[in-house]
Amino acid sequence: PNLVVLISGSGSNLQALIKAIHTGRLAARITAVISNRADAYGLQRAAEADIPTAVLSHQDFASREAFDQALQQRIDTYQPDLVVLAGFMRILTPDFVRHYEGRMLNIHPSLLPLYKGIHTHRRVLEDGGHEHGVSVHFVTPELDGGPVIMQAKVPVLPSDTETSLAQRIQTQEHVIYPQVVKWFVEGRLKLANNQATLDGNAL
Ligand code: GRF
Repeated sequence: PNLVVLISGSGSNLQALIKAIHTGRLAARITAVISNRADAYGLQRAAEADIPTAVLSHQDFASREAFDQALQQRIDTYQPDLVVLAGFMRILTPDFVRHYEGRMLNIHPSLLPLYKGIHTHRRVLEDGGHEHGVSVHFVTPELDGGPVIMQAKVPVLPSDTETSLAQRIQTQEHVIYPQVVKWFVEGRLKLANNQATLDGNAL
């Protein structure tokens, strides 16, 4: 199966997928990494792994719709089985999302449905929460609202800062995202009627 990975930044989740493939744990091929930012460090990680990269800057487009259409065209040249959003910091148009419905995943750093949107670690700390985490979900038109597939929980410690909390979360991200992608490429994970199933069982 072919994967296209979309990034905007560091690409540590991309790196986790590359590693899972290289070590034989994930039987898939990343056919392209696409970034909306030319300075995304993840582009270097992709290049080092001999994965083709492309930059499509949203600033070069007059509207969100125009950008998403161009992005969709580019993605589709690679004919991916799965589109993996890995720190892709863009809100996607409904048309784009519908086009990839059931074959696009996202990772979000919170225990969804809690803390949709940005600055999740900051908001958890501000609220004095004792528990935080990360979710992998199918992408549907509702922002960060698609059916959750897998979550990992972490404790929030009294000494935590946004950085320390983000690090604890990222360690978990790098475990659960390759696992969920593996289920998908094995054909075990489906989206139907806004419900995710694994081996036919509702998640
Ligand atoms: C992750 O924390 C992810 O949950 C969020 O963006 C970050 C991406 O990190 N959506 P990286 O670029 O994969 O290192």
